[in-house]
Formats: sequence, C-alpha cells, structure tokens
Amino acid sequence: MRILLIGSGGREHAIAWKLKQSPLLTELYIAPGNAGTAQVGTNVEVDVAKHEEVASFCESEKIDMVIVGPEIPLVAGLCDHLSAKLPSIKLVGPGAAGAQLEGSKAFSKAFMAEFGIPTAAYQTFTSESIEAAKEFLRKLEPPYVLKADGLAAGKGVVIPHTLAEAEKELDEMLSGKFGEASAKVVIEEFLTGPEFSVFVLTNGEDYQLLPVARDYKRVGEGDTGPNTGGMGAVSPVPFADKYMMAKVRERIVEPTLNGLRTRGIPYTGIIFLGLINVDEEPYVIEYNCRLGDPETEVIMPRITSDLVHLFNSMFDGTLSQNQLSVDSRAAATVVMASGGYPSKYEKGKVISGLDEVKDSIPFHAGVAEQNGSLVTNGGRVLMLTSYGLTYMEAAEMSKRSATKVNFEGGFFRKDIGK
Ligand code: AMP
Ligand code: GLY
Repeated sequence: MRILLIGSGGREHAIAWKLKQSPLLTELYIAPGNAGTAQVGTNVEVDVAKHEEVASFCESEKIDMVIVGPEIPLVAGLCDHLSAKLPSIKLVGPGAAGAQLEGSKAFSKAFMAEFGIPTAAYQTFTSESIEAAKEFLRKLEPPYVLKADGLAAGKGVVIPHTLAEAEKELDEMLSGKFGEASAKVVIEEFLTGPEFSVFVLTNGEDYQLLPVARDYKRVGEGDTGPNTGGMGAVSPVPFADKYMMAKVRERIVEPTLNGLRTRGIPYTGIIFLGLINVDEEPYVIEYNCRLGDPETEVIMPRITSDLVHLFNSMFDGTLSQNQLSVDSRAAATVVMASGGYPSKYEKGKVISGLDEVKDSIPFHAGVAEQNGSLVTNGGRVLMLTSYGLTYMEAAEMSKRSATKVNFEGGFFRKDIGK
C-alpha cells in the first residue's frame, strides 16, 4: 500500500511510526512532515492548502490511501476534492460536511440536540442577538462557557468566572476577537468532572474504538494557566471502565453515527469525542474530526494491531470483524515546549541530548533540521512517550527522559499522570 499522510505534528510522527511497522506498507509520504517523519518515510513539499496539488501528487505517485492528520484540510474539503478527482482512493478523513462536527460548534450542538446526545445546555448567538445573549448569561451560574463557533486553534473556548468578564468577553468575541470564527458564539452550561478522549474509527456504518486517553490541556502544573494544544497525555483512563464505555457507545457513539446517516453525511475516518464524566454520566464537550495531539502519541504505541490493515478494513466491510489488539501496558507522553508557549516563543533553538533518550520514544513536533543539527520549529517541540505498568510509572520515565533533552527556554509539565 502506498500511503500519503498529511500533517507535520507529533501526531503525524506517531502515525507514521506505527504505519512503518506494517508489512502492508510499501511507500510512505508525509506532506509536509517534520524531522521525525523523515526518519520513517519521505517528506514531500506538497502544498496541502492547494487541493489540486495534492490530487496531482496522489495521481503521479499512485497513492492508494490518504490519511489526513489535522482538522484544517478536512474542514476545507480536501477529501471532497480528492474523492471527486480520484474515486478509487481510500481516504481516512471525512469530507467538509462531516468535518463540521469540529468546524462549527453551532452545527455540532444543534446536531447533538437533534439526536439526543448528552451535552451541556446551550444557545447560539450573533451580534444581532447580543442582548438576548446577555440575558441568557444572567440566567446561568458562574463560571460561564463561551465558545467561538469556528476553528480557533484550540483557543476559542473562554471560561470567565464573573458575569462582568463574561459580558466583556462576549462583546469581544462577537466583534471579531477570533475573526470570522467568533461571528457566532455558543454559550453553554459549565460541567464539572474529569475529561477523557474517545476515538471512534468509522466508515459511517461500522466502528471500532481505539484506546481511551486523557489529555492535559493547561500549560501550567496543577492545571493552571492558559489552554494549549495539550502538554501531555496518558492511556488508559481508569474510570473509562466497561460500564462507562457501554454508556459511551449507547448514548454517544451509536446516536452520532445514526445522526450522520439520517442527515445523509458520509463519514470515513476518526470521530474524536472530547468527553466529560459528570457523576459517572458521559457528556460531550466537543467533537473533533481527527485524532488528538498528544493523545495519538500514547494511542499508537498501545495499539498492537497492524494499523494499515485496520485502516484498510474500513473500506472492505471488515472493520467490525477485526478485534483490535491493545498492549496491556499503560503509556504516557510528556510534551517539551518552547519558552513562552502558548503565547509568543522563539524558534531555531538547538536541541541537544536526544541521543541520550533510551527509555522513551521521542516523537517530533516542532523540530526541523538545520545544517545537520535539530532545531526547534514550533511551540510544542517533542513528545516523549514511555510504557509502564501504570501510567504514573510511564509518566515518571518520560519525565526522566525529558531532563536529558535540552534547548534554550524549553519546559515541560512535571505533573503529567497525577
Ligand atoms: P473545547 O475546545 O470545546 O474542547 O474546550 C476546551 C476546554 O474547555 C475543554 O477541554 C474543557 O476543559 C473546557 N470546557 C469546554 N466546554 C466546557 C463545559 N461546558 N463545561 C466545562 N468545561 C468546558
Ligand atoms: N489534544 C486535544 C486535541 O487534539 O484537540
């Protein structure tokens, strides 16, 4: 199988690392990839935003399967373009209609309301309905949850603690704080409980659940400071036991797939459920149309099944027949980030000590090669994944590995797994 993987993060390095283990893989290209993906495949300079360019590459390189890592190309309709041009190509990732589950919070909340999927009570507002929005806020208890409708690189959710702050935030969002993405704002009830990430591999008919993970979103220790793309992850999640997962399947996964079919939306790829456990009841915080980052860096190492075979089974009707096999060990990943992240940070810092890391798998995110050395090239730089009998043990190992790696300003959370 000749595969093109789209993306350039730690997630894509982890997917590429796992694909590479499959005897079914004959060629792996990554567009644009990073210094890590270059170790397991061939990085190619295809402009992913130019759908025609991706289609031409697939045609000339006789690509059999395209796996899309990030949400932006999915929401932009890359898969619609590829399937129209190359009907026989296997696409792991939905078209723009399905990607709205992530691309529009107003869409996903209305979808959940229509199909009875448990989620926080909400309403959607625009600048025309700002007075009604303020009235709605006054009816809620603090803290308040305000969400930009569209994609905002993980920054579009704001949780003010006072009504005055919430009203100010609402004004700012509706007057363009997140550009077009906050022309509509969803205001919802605040839910309390531990969060977990469930990944559904589906072709719209059948599905398989991948290992459950938990992400550490805040930049600071003890879950403080601003939200990031994720500072660490662990798998499995002890409270996501068979009772909880039966509820997740019956109340969330199956109604979601039924809803997509009812609306006539085809979907082949991943549905990432961002869930919260409220007194042992699962609620949807958000849908995403792709794998999580850094969750993928703990999920891929725990899957022992052949990933190419697994993805391929979505296209030959055998998805639900294949029992996914999972390593009984736990896994944890610790993210090393550039000083200043998630705000302003500098790039181009030389990374040293990576050769010293023997007990963890170093997945590369914002890493580039410059004159033969590795340099930082993004906010999240490296994800160090380890196995352990428990995820605490795995996290300890990752932290030990992280102390061996150096770049100016680099930091990591020392409480991943706690
Ligand atoms: P989202 O981008 O929708 O996942 O939101 C980012 C983060 O904001 C989530 O991971 C939660 O920690 C928090 N959040 C979002 N919605 C709610 C809610 N209704 N209640 C409590 N926390 C929330
Ligand atoms: N780690 C959360 C996400 O990928 O959206």
